[in-house]
Amino acid sequence: MGSRFHIRTYGCQMNVHDSEKLANLLHHSGLRAAETEDLADILVINTCSIRDKAENQLYSDLGALRAWKDAGPERIIGVGGCVAQQVGDSLLKRFHHLDFVFGTHNLRLVPSMVDAARSGDRSRGGGGRFCAGRRAETAETRSLERFDLPGLHPESRTGEQGRAFVTVMEGCDMFCSFCIVPTTRGREISRPAAMIVEEVRNLAAEGVREVTLLGQTVNAYGRHAERRRQSEASGTMAFPELLAELDSIPGIERIRYTSPHPLFFDAGLIAAHAALEHLCPHVHLPVQSGSDAILARMRRRYTRNDYLEIIQALRKSVPDLAITTDLIVGFPGESEADFMETLDLVKRVGFVDSYSFKYSARPGTAAASFTDSVDSGEAQRRLEALQAVQRELTLTHHRGRVGERVRVLIQGESRRGAGQLCGRDPHHRLVNLSPQTDGSAVQVRPGEIREVEIVEATPHSLIGTLTPSSGEMRSTLVSTVPP
Ligand code: 5AD
Ligand code: SF4
Repeated sequence: MGSRFHIRTYGCQMNVHDSEKLANLLHHSGLRAAETEDLADILVINTCSIRDKAENQLYSDLGALRAWKDAGPERIIGVGGCVAQQVGDSLLKRFHHLDFVFGTHNLRLVPSMVDAARSGDRSRGGGGRFCAGRRAETAETRSLERFDLPGLHPESRTGEQGRAFVTVMEGCDMFCSFCIVPTTRGREISRPAAMIVEEVRNLAAEGVREVTLLGQTVNAYGRHAERRRQSEASGTMAFPELLAELDSIPGIERIRYTSPHPLFFDAGLIAAHAALEHLCPHVHLPVQSGSDAILARMRRRYTRNDYLEIIQALRKSVPDLAITTDLIVGFPGESEADFMETLDLVKRVGFVDSYSFKYSARPGTAAASFTDSVDSGEAQRRLEALQAVQRELTLTHHRGRVGERVRVLIQGESRRGAGQLCGRDPHHRLVNLSPQTDGSAVQVRPGEIREVEIVEATPHSLIGTLTPSSGEMRSTLVSTVPP
Protein backbone atom coordinates (compact mmCIF):
# COMPACT_ATOMS: atom_id res chain seq x y z
CA MET A 1 0.00 0.00 0.00
CA GLY A 2 1.18 3.47 -0.77
CA SER A 3 0.50 5.08 2.61
CA ARG A 4 2.97 7.72 3.61
CA PHE A 5 3.54 9.33 6.98
CA HIS A 6 4.94 12.64 8.10
CA ILE A 7 5.93 13.58 11.66
CA ARG A 8 5.79 17.17 12.90
CA THR A 9 8.04 17.50 15.96
CA TYR A 10 8.12 20.12 18.71
CA GLY A 11 10.34 20.37 21.77
CA CYS A 12 13.56 18.94 23.09
CA GLN A 13 16.04 16.39 21.75
CA MET A 14 14.13 13.57 23.48
CA ASN A 15 11.16 14.45 21.31
CA VAL A 16 13.31 14.65 18.20
CA HIS A 17 14.69 11.23 19.02
CA ASP A 18 11.22 9.83 19.81
CA SER A 19 10.15 10.98 16.36
CA GLU A 20 13.14 9.14 14.87
CA LYS A 21 12.14 5.99 16.79
CA LEU A 22 8.56 6.37 15.62
CA ALA A 23 9.61 6.83 11.98
CA ASN A 24 11.66 3.66 12.32
CA LEU A 25 8.69 1.73 13.75
CA LEU A 26 6.45 2.95 10.94
CA HIS A 27 9.04 2.00 8.33
CA HIS A 28 9.19 -1.49 9.85
CA SER A 29 5.41 -1.71 9.58
CA GLY A 30 5.64 -1.15 5.84
CA LEU A 31 4.88 2.56 5.59
CA ARG A 32 7.02 5.12 3.84
CA ALA A 33 7.96 8.64 4.88
CA ALA A 34 6.59 11.61 2.95
CA GLU A 35 8.83 14.63 2.55
CA THR A 36 6.00 17.07 3.07
CA GLU A 37 2.69 16.96 4.86
CA ASP A 38 0.84 17.52 1.61
CA LEU A 39 2.27 14.26 0.27
CA ALA A 40 1.36 12.35 3.44
CA ASP A 41 -1.83 10.59 4.40
CA ILE A 42 -0.77 9.93 7.99
CA LEU A 43 0.29 12.95 10.01
CA VAL A 44 1.69 12.57 13.52
CA ILE A 45 2.32 15.56 15.79
CA ASN A 46 4.88 15.00 18.53
CA THR A 47 4.07 17.63 21.14
CA CYS A 48 5.85 19.56 23.88
CA SER A 49 4.36 21.00 27.07
CA ILE A 50 7.38 22.50 28.78
CA ARG A 51 5.93 26.04 28.49
CA ASP A 52 2.37 27.16 27.77
CA LYS A 53 3.37 28.49 24.36
CA ALA A 54 4.46 25.04 23.22
CA GLU A 55 1.24 23.45 24.46
CA ASN A 56 -0.97 26.09 22.80
CA GLN A 57 0.81 25.38 19.55
CA LEU A 58 -0.89 21.98 19.44
CA TYR A 59 -4.35 23.44 19.77
CA SER A 60 -3.77 25.94 17.00
CA ASP A 61 -2.18 23.23 14.81
CA LEU A 62 -5.15 20.92 15.31
CA GLY A 63 -7.60 23.65 14.42
CA ALA A 64 -5.72 24.38 11.21
CA LEU A 65 -5.44 20.68 10.31
CA ARG A 66 -9.17 20.24 9.78
CA ALA A 67 -8.63 21.46 6.24
CA TRP A 68 -5.69 19.04 5.75
CA LYS A 69 -7.83 16.12 6.89
CA ASP A 70 -10.76 17.11 4.70
CA ALA A 71 -8.49 17.30 1.64
CA GLY A 72 -8.11 13.49 1.54
CA PRO A 73 -10.67 10.87 2.51
CA GLU A 74 -8.04 8.44 3.83
CA ARG A 75 -6.11 10.97 5.88
CA ILE A 76 -5.29 10.18 9.50
CA ILE A 77 -4.02 12.45 12.30
CA GLY A 78 -2.28 11.21 15.46
CA VAL A 79 -0.93 13.18 18.43
CA GLY A 80 1.83 11.99 20.74
CA GLY A 81 4.40 13.37 23.16
CA CYS A 82 4.10 15.33 26.38
CA VAL A 83 0.75 17.08 25.80
CA ALA A 84 -0.78 13.77 24.75
CA GLN A 85 0.57 12.11 27.90
CA GLN A 86 -1.03 14.79 30.04
CA VAL A 87 -4.42 15.33 28.49
CA GLY A 88 -4.96 11.90 26.93
CA ASP A 89 -8.27 11.00 25.38
CA SER A 90 -9.83 14.39 26.14
CA LEU A 91 -8.04 15.40 22.93
CA LEU A 92 -10.19 12.90 21.01
CA LYS A 93 -13.32 14.38 22.57
CA ARG A 94 -12.32 17.92 21.78
CA PHE A 95 -10.98 17.38 18.26
CA HIS A 96 -13.27 15.10 16.29
CA HIS A 97 -10.95 14.95 13.31
CA LEU A 98 -8.18 13.46 15.45
CA ASP A 99 -7.74 9.67 15.02
CA PHE A 100 -5.36 8.56 17.74
CA VAL A 101 -3.43 9.77 20.78
CA PHE A 102 -0.35 8.12 22.29
CA GLY A 103 1.66 8.92 25.39
CA THR A 104 5.41 9.06 25.92
CA HIS A 105 5.55 5.38 26.99
CA ASN A 106 3.49 4.04 24.11
CA LEU A 107 5.48 4.61 20.93
CA ARG A 108 5.44 0.88 20.21
CA LEU A 109 1.66 0.89 19.91
CA VAL A 110 1.54 3.48 17.14
CA PRO A 111 1.71 1.09 14.14
CA SER A 112 -1.32 -0.81 15.50
CA MET A 113 -3.13 2.47 16.16
CA VAL A 114 -2.47 3.53 12.57
CA ASP A 115 -3.86 0.18 11.40
CA ALA A 116 -6.96 0.55 13.55
CA ALA A 117 -7.57 4.07 12.31
CA ARG A 118 -7.12 2.96 8.70
CA SER A 119 -9.46 -0.01 8.95
CA GLY A 120 -11.91 2.14 10.90
CA ASP A 121 -11.66 4.60 8.09
CA ARG A 122 -12.57 1.93 5.54
CA SER A 123 -15.46 0.59 7.62
CA ARG A 124 -17.09 3.93 8.12
CA GLY A 125 -18.47 4.18 4.58
CA GLY A 126 -19.88 7.50 3.58
CA GLY A 127 -21.40 8.44 6.91
CA GLY A 128 -19.68 8.38 10.30
CA ARG A 129 -16.21 9.64 9.42
CA PHE A 130 -14.94 9.75 12.93
CA CYS A 131 -16.46 6.73 14.65
CA ALA A 132 -14.41 3.57 14.28
CA GLY A 133 -10.78 2.92 15.17
CA ARG A 134 -10.12 5.97 17.34
CA ARG A 135 -7.87 5.21 20.30
CA ALA A 136 -5.91 6.87 23.08
CA GLU A 137 -3.04 4.95 24.73
CA THR A 138 -1.34 6.85 27.51
CA ALA A 139 -0.68 4.21 30.17
CA GLU A 140 2.59 4.69 32.06
CA THR A 141 4.79 1.66 32.38
CA ARG A 142 7.86 0.90 34.48
CA SER A 143 8.80 -1.83 32.07
CA LEU A 144 12.10 -1.96 30.21
CA GLU A 145 10.11 -3.13 27.18
CA ARG A 146 9.84 0.39 25.90
CA PHE A 147 13.59 0.39 25.18
CA ASP A 148 13.22 -2.77 23.14
CA LEU A 149 12.80 -1.26 19.70
CA PRO A 150 13.68 -2.75 16.31
CA GLY A 151 17.04 -2.03 14.69
CA LEU A 152 17.39 0.77 12.20
CA HIS A 153 15.35 0.22 9.03
CA PRO A 154 17.37 1.23 5.93
CA GLU A 155 14.83 3.96 5.12
CA SER A 156 15.24 5.47 8.57
CA ARG A 157 18.80 6.55 7.93
CA THR A 158 18.25 10.01 6.53
CA GLY A 159 19.31 13.57 7.12
CA GLU A 160 22.23 14.28 9.34
CA GLN A 161 24.49 11.37 8.82
CA GLY A 162 27.44 10.68 11.01
CA ARG A 163 25.72 11.43 14.28
CA ALA A 164 22.94 9.86 16.31
CA PHE A 165 21.06 10.14 19.57
CA VAL A 166 21.07 7.22 21.98
CA THR A 167 18.63 7.00 24.90
CA VAL A 168 20.32 5.97 28.15
CA MET A 169 17.59 6.82 30.64
CA GLU A 170 14.09 8.22 30.60
CA GLY A 171 11.86 10.04 33.05
CA CYS A 172 12.71 12.26 35.98
CA ASP A 173 12.33 11.95 39.75
CA MET A 174 13.63 15.40 40.63
CA PHE A 175 10.35 17.35 40.62
CA CYS A 176 11.82 20.82 40.25
CA SER A 177 8.94 23.07 41.27
CA PHE A 178 8.55 24.68 37.82
CA CYS A 179 8.81 21.56 35.68
CA ILE A 180 6.15 19.39 34.08
CA VAL A 181 8.58 16.71 32.86
CA PRO A 182 8.18 14.30 35.83
CA THR A 183 4.47 14.22 34.98
CA THR A 184 4.82 13.89 31.22
CA ARG A 185 7.79 11.52 31.16
CA GLY A 186 7.12 9.54 34.32
CA ARG A 187 9.54 7.97 36.77
CA GLU A 188 13.23 7.67 36.12
CA ILE A 189 14.32 4.44 34.48
CA SER A 190 17.76 3.48 33.15
CA ARG A 191 18.42 1.27 30.20
CA PRO A 192 20.73 -1.72 30.70
CA ALA A 193 24.29 -0.86 29.70
CA ALA A 194 24.63 -3.87 27.41
CA MET A 195 21.71 -2.62 25.30
CA ILE A 196 23.28 0.83 25.01
CA VAL A 197 26.70 -0.56 24.09
CA GLU A 198 25.15 -2.79 21.44
CA GLU A 199 23.23 0.10 19.92
CA VAL A 200 26.36 2.27 19.78
CA ARG A 201 28.38 -0.56 18.21
CA ASN A 202 25.71 -0.96 15.54
CA LEU A 203 25.63 2.76 14.89
CA ALA A 204 29.42 2.85 14.57
CA ALA A 205 29.22 0.00 12.02
CA GLU A 206 26.79 2.13 10.01
CA GLY A 207 29.20 5.06 9.90
CA VAL A 208 28.02 7.08 12.89
CA ARG A 209 30.97 9.00 14.36
CA GLU A 210 29.24 11.02 17.06
CA VAL A 211 26.72 9.84 19.64
CA THR A 212 24.75 12.05 21.99
CA LEU A 213 23.50 10.19 25.04
CA LEU A 214 20.05 11.33 26.07
CA GLY A 215 18.25 11.41 29.38
CA GLN A 216 16.23 13.97 31.32
CA THR A 217 18.91 13.81 34.03
CA VAL A 218 21.39 11.83 32.01
CA ASN A 219 24.15 11.67 34.64
CA ALA A 220 21.70 10.14 37.13
CA TYR A 221 22.00 7.05 34.92
CA GLY A 222 21.90 3.88 36.98
CA ARG A 223 21.51 5.57 40.35
CA HIS A 224 18.38 3.67 41.33
CA ALA A 225 20.09 0.35 40.74
CA GLU A 226 22.71 1.30 43.29
CA ARG A 227 20.22 2.59 45.79
CA ARG A 228 17.26 0.27 45.55
CA ARG A 229 18.63 -2.72 43.68
CA GLN A 230 15.50 -2.76 41.56
CA SER A 231 15.66 -5.84 39.43
CA GLU A 232 14.44 -4.03 36.34
CA ALA A 233 17.23 -1.49 36.62
CA SER A 234 19.94 -4.16 36.87
CA GLY A 235 22.56 -4.20 34.20
CA THR A 236 23.33 -0.53 34.65
CA MET A 237 26.58 0.94 35.88
CA ALA A 238 27.75 4.35 37.06
CA PHE A 239 27.51 7.00 34.31
CA PRO A 240 31.30 7.58 34.02
CA GLU A 241 31.79 3.81 33.60
CA LEU A 242 29.22 3.77 30.81
CA LEU A 243 31.08 6.63 29.13
CA ALA A 244 34.34 4.68 29.41
CA GLU A 245 32.74 1.62 27.79
CA LEU A 246 31.47 3.71 24.87
CA ASP A 247 34.78 5.53 24.55
CA SER A 248 36.47 2.29 23.55
CA ILE A 249 34.09 1.40 20.71
CA PRO A 250 36.02 1.54 17.41
CA GLY A 251 34.70 4.20 15.02
CA ILE A 252 33.11 6.42 17.68
CA GLU A 253 35.05 9.66 17.60
CA ARG A 254 32.78 11.90 19.63
CA ILE A 255 30.62 11.33 22.69
CA ARG A 256 28.24 13.95 24.08
CA TYR A 257 25.49 13.74 26.66
CA THR A 258 22.51 15.92 27.56
CA SER A 259 21.27 17.13 29.98
CA PRO A 260 23.17 16.44 33.17
CA HIS A 261 21.93 17.70 36.55
CA PRO A 262 24.42 19.49 38.85
CA LEU A 263 23.42 17.26 41.79
CA PHE A 264 24.86 14.17 40.06
CA PHE A 265 27.92 15.87 38.60
CA ASP A 266 30.43 13.97 40.72
CA ALA A 267 34.22 13.66 40.77
CA GLY A 268 34.03 10.55 38.59
CA LEU A 269 32.33 12.44 35.77
CA ILE A 270 34.73 15.35 36.07
CA ALA A 271 37.66 12.91 35.90
CA ALA A 272 36.09 11.20 32.88
CA HIS A 273 36.32 14.47 30.97
CA ALA A 274 40.09 14.50 31.46
CA ALA A 275 40.56 10.79 30.85
CA LEU A 276 38.33 9.81 27.92
CA GLU A 277 39.69 10.50 24.48
CA HIS A 278 36.36 10.86 22.70
CA LEU A 279 34.33 12.73 25.28
CA CYS A 280 33.76 16.17 23.75
CA PRO A 281 35.03 19.30 25.52
CA HIS A 282 31.52 20.66 25.96
CA VAL A 283 29.09 20.37 28.85
CA HIS A 284 25.53 21.69 28.79
CA LEU A 285 24.78 22.06 32.50
CA PRO A 286 21.45 23.76 33.29
CA VAL A 287 21.76 26.16 36.23
CA GLN A 288 18.31 27.87 35.94
CA SER A 289 19.16 30.74 38.35
CA GLY A 290 22.14 32.36 40.06
CA SER A 291 20.26 33.15 43.26
CA ASP A 292 20.28 30.73 46.19
CA ALA A 293 16.83 31.87 47.30
CA ILE A 294 15.36 31.13 43.86
CA LEU A 295 17.28 27.86 43.47
CA ALA A 296 15.78 26.70 46.77
CA ARG A 297 12.25 27.62 45.66
CA MET A 298 12.88 25.89 42.36
CA ARG A 299 13.87 22.77 44.40
CA ARG A 300 17.04 22.43 42.43
CA ARG A 301 18.94 20.90 45.40
CA TYR A 302 22.22 22.77 44.84
CA THR A 303 23.47 26.24 45.64
CA ARG A 304 25.13 28.80 43.44
CA ASN A 305 28.40 27.92 45.11
CA ASP A 306 27.96 24.18 44.45
CA TYR A 307 27.47 24.99 40.79
CA LEU A 308 30.52 27.25 40.64
CA GLU A 309 32.63 24.56 42.31
CA ILE A 310 31.63 22.03 39.64
CA ILE A 311 32.59 24.51 36.92
CA GLN A 312 35.92 25.21 38.58
CA ALA A 313 36.71 21.49 38.87
CA LEU A 314 35.66 20.86 35.27
CA ARG A 315 37.87 23.66 34.02
CA LYS A 316 40.78 22.24 35.96
CA SER A 317 40.11 18.90 34.34
CA VAL A 318 39.62 20.29 30.80
CA PRO A 319 40.94 23.86 30.45
CA ASP A 320 39.29 24.64 27.10
CA LEU A 321 35.88 23.24 28.05
CA ALA A 322 32.85 25.04 26.55
CA ILE A 323 30.04 25.37 29.07
CA THR A 324 26.45 26.15 28.09
CA THR A 325 23.33 26.31 30.23
CA ASP A 326 19.57 26.82 30.63
CA LEU A 327 18.17 29.77 32.57
CA ILE A 328 14.71 30.83 33.71
CA VAL A 329 13.88 34.46 34.48
CA GLY A 330 10.80 35.81 36.21
CA PHE A 331 10.32 32.79 38.47
CA PRO A 332 7.79 33.65 41.24
CA GLY A 333 9.41 35.81 43.90
CA GLU A 334 12.47 36.65 41.77
CA SER A 335 13.57 40.12 42.91
CA GLU A 336 15.81 42.47 40.99
CA ALA A 337 18.62 41.43 43.35
CA ASP A 338 18.01 37.74 42.55
CA PHE A 339 18.12 38.52 38.85
CA MET A 340 21.40 40.45 39.33
CA GLU A 341 22.82 37.30 40.94
CA THR A 342 21.87 35.39 37.78
CA LEU A 343 23.56 37.98 35.55
CA ASP A 344 26.62 37.86 37.79
CA LEU A 345 26.81 34.07 37.61
CA VAL A 346 26.44 34.10 33.84
CA LYS A 347 29.38 36.50 33.53
CA ARG A 348 31.43 34.68 36.14
CA VAL A 349 31.10 31.32 34.40
CA GLY A 350 31.37 32.92 30.96
CA PHE A 351 28.86 30.60 29.33
CA VAL A 352 29.64 30.09 25.68
CA ASP A 353 25.90 30.02 25.04
CA SER A 354 22.65 29.65 26.93
CA TYR A 355 18.98 28.96 26.41
CA SER A 356 16.96 31.39 28.48
CA PHE A 357 13.23 31.38 29.08
CA LYS A 358 10.55 33.43 30.76
CA TYR A 359 8.97 31.37 33.51
CA SER A 360 5.70 29.80 32.42
CA ALA A 361 3.39 28.35 35.08
CA ARG A 362 2.52 24.73 34.33
CA PRO A 363 -0.68 23.40 35.88
CA GLY A 364 -0.01 20.65 38.40
CA THR A 365 3.54 21.74 39.28
CA ALA A 366 4.39 23.04 42.76
CA ALA A 367 5.31 26.51 41.50
CA ALA A 368 1.93 26.92 39.79
CA SER A 369 0.44 27.66 43.21
CA PHE A 370 3.04 30.34 44.12
CA THR A 371 1.25 33.66 44.28
CA ASP A 372 4.17 36.13 44.11
CA SER A 373 4.45 36.10 40.34
CA VAL A 374 6.68 38.52 38.48
CA ASP A 375 5.01 40.98 36.14
CA SER A 376 5.24 39.68 32.58
CA GLY A 377 6.67 42.95 31.21
CA GLU A 378 9.35 42.91 33.90
CA ALA A 379 10.19 39.26 33.14
CA GLN A 380 10.52 40.20 29.47
CA ARG A 381 12.89 43.06 30.34
CA ARG A 382 15.03 40.66 32.38
CA LEU A 383 15.04 38.11 29.58
CA GLU A 384 16.24 40.71 27.10
CA ALA A 385 18.92 42.00 29.49
CA LEU A 386 20.15 38.46 30.07
CA GLN A 387 20.20 37.67 26.38
CA ALA A 388 22.15 40.85 25.65
CA VAL A 389 24.83 39.78 28.15
CA GLN A 390 24.91 36.31 26.61
CA ARG A 391 25.23 37.65 23.07
CA GLU A 392 28.38 39.54 24.09
CA LEU A 393 29.84 36.48 25.82
CA THR A 394 29.14 34.27 22.80
CA LEU A 395 30.62 36.77 20.37
CA THR A 396 33.71 37.22 22.53
CA HIS A 397 34.18 33.46 22.64
CA HIS A 398 33.71 33.18 18.88
CA ARG A 399 36.21 35.97 18.20
CA GLY A 400 38.76 34.15 20.32
CA ARG A 401 38.43 31.15 18.06
CA VAL A 402 39.43 32.91 14.82
CA GLY A 403 42.63 31.40 13.44
CA GLU A 404 42.11 28.01 15.13
CA ARG A 405 42.00 24.77 13.21
CA VAL A 406 39.18 22.51 14.34
CA ARG A 407 37.66 19.22 13.31
CA VAL A 408 34.12 19.72 12.09
CA LEU A 409 31.52 17.00 11.68
CA ILE A 410 29.67 18.07 8.56
CA GLN A 411 25.89 18.03 9.05
CA GLY A 412 24.45 19.29 5.78
CA GLU A 413 23.27 22.49 4.22
CA SER A 414 23.36 25.52 6.51
CA ARG A 415 20.40 27.79 7.17
CA ARG A 416 22.01 30.31 4.87
CA GLY A 417 21.06 27.98 1.99
CA ALA A 418 22.68 28.31 -1.43
CA GLY A 419 24.44 24.98 -0.97
CA GLN A 420 26.53 26.27 1.91
CA LEU A 421 27.49 23.51 4.32
CA CYS A 422 27.65 23.58 8.09
CA GLY A 423 28.73 21.34 10.91
CA ARG A 424 29.71 21.26 14.57
CA ASP A 425 33.13 21.55 16.14
CA PRO A 426 34.07 19.52 19.25
CA HIS A 427 32.76 22.37 21.46
CA HIS A 428 29.40 22.03 19.68
CA ARG A 429 29.71 25.42 18.04
CA LEU A 430 28.03 25.78 14.67
CA VAL A 431 30.57 26.22 11.87
CA ASN A 432 29.43 27.45 8.45
CA LEU A 433 31.81 26.61 5.63
CA SER A 434 32.58 29.59 3.43
CA PRO A 435 33.05 29.06 -0.32
CA GLN A 436 36.57 28.12 -1.39
CA THR A 437 38.69 31.16 -2.20
CA ASP A 438 39.49 29.76 -5.64
CA GLY A 439 35.76 29.52 -6.40
CA SER A 440 35.74 25.71 -6.59
CA ALA A 441 32.84 23.81 -5.07
CA VAL A 442 33.38 22.46 -1.55
CA GLN A 443 33.98 18.72 -1.98
CA VAL A 444 32.55 17.42 1.24
CA ARG A 445 29.55 15.39 2.29
CA PRO A 446 27.42 15.08 5.42
CA GLY A 447 28.86 12.68 7.95
CA GLU A 448 32.50 13.45 7.21
CA ILE A 449 34.81 14.95 9.79
CA ARG A 450 37.03 17.57 8.20
CA GLU A 451 39.63 19.98 9.44
CA VAL A 452 38.51 23.58 9.11
CA GLU A 453 40.26 26.87 9.75
CA ILE A 454 38.09 29.43 11.52
CA VAL A 455 38.27 32.69 9.58
CA GLU A 456 35.43 34.76 10.98
CA ALA A 457 33.17 35.04 14.03
CA THR A 458 29.48 35.98 14.04
CA PRO A 459 27.13 36.15 17.04
CA HIS A 460 25.57 32.78 16.19
CA SER A 461 28.24 30.80 14.42
CA LEU A 462 31.82 30.48 13.31
CA ILE A 463 32.79 30.73 9.67
CA GLY A 464 35.54 28.48 8.41
CA THR A 465 37.28 27.14 5.32
CA LEU A 466 38.45 23.61 4.70
CA THR A 467 42.19 23.30 5.24
CA PRO A 468 44.20 21.86 2.35
CA SER A 469 45.29 18.86 4.42
CA SER A 470 41.78 17.96 5.54
CA GLY A 471 41.29 15.56 2.63
CA GLU A 472 43.16 12.90 4.62
CA MET A 473 40.17 12.30 6.82
CA ARG A 474 37.76 11.57 4.02
CA SER A 475 38.55 8.10 2.92
CA THR A 476 37.32 6.33 6.05
CA LEU A 477 33.85 7.74 5.71
CA VAL A 478 33.15 7.92 2.01
CA SER A 479 31.60 4.48 1.96
CA THR A 480 29.04 5.40 4.60
CA VAL A 481 27.36 8.32 2.86
CA PRO A 482 25.05 8.12 -0.11
CA PRO A 483 26.20 9.50 -3.48
N1 5AD B 1 8.95 27.77 32.42
C1 5AD B 1 10.03 28.20 31.74
N2 5AD B 1 11.06 27.44 31.41
C2 5AD B 1 11.01 26.14 31.78
N3 5AD B 1 11.90 25.13 31.62
C3 5AD B 1 11.37 24.02 32.16
N4 5AD B 1 10.16 24.29 32.70
C4 5AD B 1 9.93 25.61 32.48
C5 5AD B 1 8.86 26.48 32.82
N5 5AD B 1 7.80 26.05 33.50
C6 5AD B 1 13.19 25.30 30.96
C7 5AD B 1 14.35 24.93 31.91
C8 5AD B 1 14.78 23.60 31.37
C9 5AD B 1 14.52 23.76 29.89
C10 5AD B 1 14.46 22.50 29.12
O1 5AD B 1 13.27 24.42 29.85
O2 5AD B 1 15.35 25.89 31.77
O3 5AD B 1 16.15 23.32 31.65
FE1 SF4 C 1 12.48 19.06 34.93
FE2 SF4 C 1 14.10 19.35 37.05
FE3 SF4 C 1 13.67 16.91 35.98
FE4 SF4 C 1 15.15 18.70 34.63
S1 SF4 C 1 15.67 17.80 36.65
S2 SF4 C 1 13.51 17.38 33.77
S3 SF4 C 1 14.12 20.63 35.17
S4 SF4 C 1 12.17 18.20 36.99
